[in-house]
Order: sequence, then C-alpha cells, then structure tokens
Amino acid sequence: MSGLSRWLADQRAARISGGLERRLVVREETMIDLAGNDYLGLATDPGVIEGAIRAAREYGVGAGASRLVTGNLAIHEQLQAELAEFTKRPAALAFSTGYHANLGAVTALADADTLIVSDAHVHASLVDACRLARGRVEIVGHNDVDAVRVALAHRSEPRALVVVESIYSVLGDAAPLAELAALCVAHDATLLVDEAHAIGVAGEGGRGLAYDIDLAEPERLVVTATMSKALGAQGGVVLADSAVIEHLINTARAFIFDTGLAPPAAGAARAALETLSARPELVTRVRSHAAALAEACGVEPPAGAVLSVPITSPEAAVRARDKLAWEGLRVGCFRPPSVPDRVSRLRITARAALADSDVEHACRILPTIVSEGA
Ligand SMILES: Cc1ncc(COP(=O)(O)O)c(C=O)c1O
Repeated sequence: MSGLSRWLADQRAARISGGLERRLVVREETMIDLAGNDYLGLATDPGVIEGAIRAAREYGVGAGASRLVTGNLAIHEQLQAELAEFTKRPAALAFSTGYHANLGAVTALADADTLIVSDAHVHASLVDACRLARGRVEIVGHNDVDAVRVALAHRSEPRALVVVESIYSVLGDAAPLAELAALCVAHDATLLVDEAHAIGVAGEGGRGLAYDIDLAEPERLVVTATMSKALGAQGGVVLADSAVIEHLINTARAFIFDTGLAPPAAGAARAALETLSARPELVTRVRSHAAALAEACGVEPPAGAVLSVPITSPEAAVRARDKLAWEGLRVGCFRPPSVPDRVSRLRITARAALADSDVEHACRILPTIVSEGA
C-alpha cells in the first residue's frame, strides 16, 4: 500500500468517526427544496433558459480562451454594462464563477503593503483569497465593528482591505455596511463586500445592500457577486471603480489565466437581470416566504433568504435534517469545523418558486422538529 493510500484511508476513517463524511447525492425533485440558492426560481425560468440558448447559438457553448486572448465576447461586455447599471456601480468585470471573482479581487487588491481585515464568517472563497493574497490578514469577530476599527487604526501597512459579506451565506444576517464604510473612509481603507446572497433578494428591487452606499471616493467600495444564486445562472462579477477594474484586468490571476465566462451562462444572467427588473414581485415573494419560515422556526426574519437555525449539537442537527427529509423537506446542515463559531445549525433557504402550499407544509412541520433540537 502506498503512503498516499494509507494517508487517504486514515483521513477517511477520521471523517467517518467524526460523522463528517461528505457525499454527493443526486437531487430529488420530489422534495421541497429549502436548501438551494436559486432564490427566485430563475434557473428554470423559460425566458432565462431562452437567453442561454440564444447566447449558445450566437457565440457557442464556450468562450474558447481567456478573455485577454480571444475569449472576450460582446456578450461579456453587455452583461458587465447591465450589471454595473443594475447595481449603480461605475464598472464591472465578469469572471467564470463567484469564487474566481473573490479570489481575483482580493489577491489583486492586497499586496504585501496591505492589511486585510476579514470577518470570521466570510465564505471559503474569501478565506482562500485572503490566504493567497500577499498581505497580512487579521480575522475579526463576526460583525465586530470595534475590532475592525482597532485593526485599521493600529496597522503599520499604508493600505487596508476590509472583507465582508453583505448577507452572510450561512448565518443569513446582514453586515453593518454603513458603519464599515464610514470606518474605511476614516482610516483610508477599501471595503470589499460580497453580495452573493443579497443580489436579487435584498435592497431596492433586489439590487443588493451595497446599492445605498454612496462614497465620495467610489474606489473605496469594491463589490463582488455571483450569477449562480438569485440570477439562477453561473459566473461571478466584480463591481467597482474603473481604475480598480483596469487593475484587475491586468493583475487578477483568476481572471487572466481562466477561460472567459461561458456564453450560455452570460446569456442566462442577462435574461435573469431583465426578468428581475421586470418582475420585482419575485423579490417580495421570496422575502415573504423567508419571514413565514423564520416565524415557524422561532428565529428573527432574515436579511435576505437565508435562515440560520441553531441546534444544540452536531448529532441533533443531523437528526433534525434527517427527520425533515422524511417529511419531504430538504434543508442544509452545518456543523463544526465548517462553522467558525462551532454552533451547529440548520440552514434553511426561502425561494420564490416554492408553492404557497409547500411553505404551509414546511411551516407545519418545522416548529416541532426545530424545538426538539433547540
Ligand atoms: C458568499 C459567497 N461568495 C461566493 C460564492 C461563490 O460563488 P460561485 O458559486 O458562483 O462560485 C458563494 C457560493 O456559495 C458564496 O456563498
């Protein structure tokens, strides 16, 4: 047996004994999905599908090269202009995923002379981005504005980048963006806000929570987002001042050395944006489902579509998830070590496409099972 085989077997045994083995399960359409991120149901919207087909016919199914070689297509430029207009940001740069957008933005903006101040609960893509960047990283407690202030005030680096999510992917709560933006102005820092779980769900017409931040120096705010959640498609974007975008085109390795966003994904995202602008009632619907589910679980209404329901132990969380599955409800289950605060929780998402009867069924079942794990 090779050293690698022995090591793989040991790793697997440790995962199994800790109850932490991950398995790929094919999605069953018979279940009520309270775990996915297709918040507005646009992944299967006929107009969005048509947008993908049109783009495939016009441009092919792949971009064929990095955008800096021959993979930059008119549809990328159109999508970027529309995303920038929708979110009221000066310029945009599309990446092949939201993960790439975060890797590209943070690594390109944080050199060895930049302090990165990161919230403890940011998404793995931002954690990896901080690890890859050349700057020193300070991790601060979740939504701890004072800790951010102290980190910025006592730094020796000339530049600083504060990294947060506007709505946290697992906790479902909102960042204090106005306070953080004010701190960044006071301490000459840049604020990077990942709007992955806010675009399409929160802010005016689903334009996100950074939409309302109006800074005198627009380069202070860098927004990242994904087209793979509420927009139902695939791809990432950085929305920022044009000087920042120009810097990313020249230095973001996750952009330079990656094949351009696939045209059908770009076409789908364009159609999704159009649908979102034309049907703001989708945003109202997902938020009203989220409020109903929150009440059933006995938690505060969330900032977007993600509900975090704390459960007493990892075992109880798994039990609750499995009982809900028996009732036809698929929910997410997060346990240490993938939750930095070590609190096991169910992650429940609201989706506009859920029928009222499905939400009513979920609201009947959730209170008992959640209270058993509370
Ligand atoms: C907060 C956050 N940022 C970024 C990403 C990555 O986006 P994508 O799935 O488009 O790579 C995710 C996806 O789960 C996320 O939750």
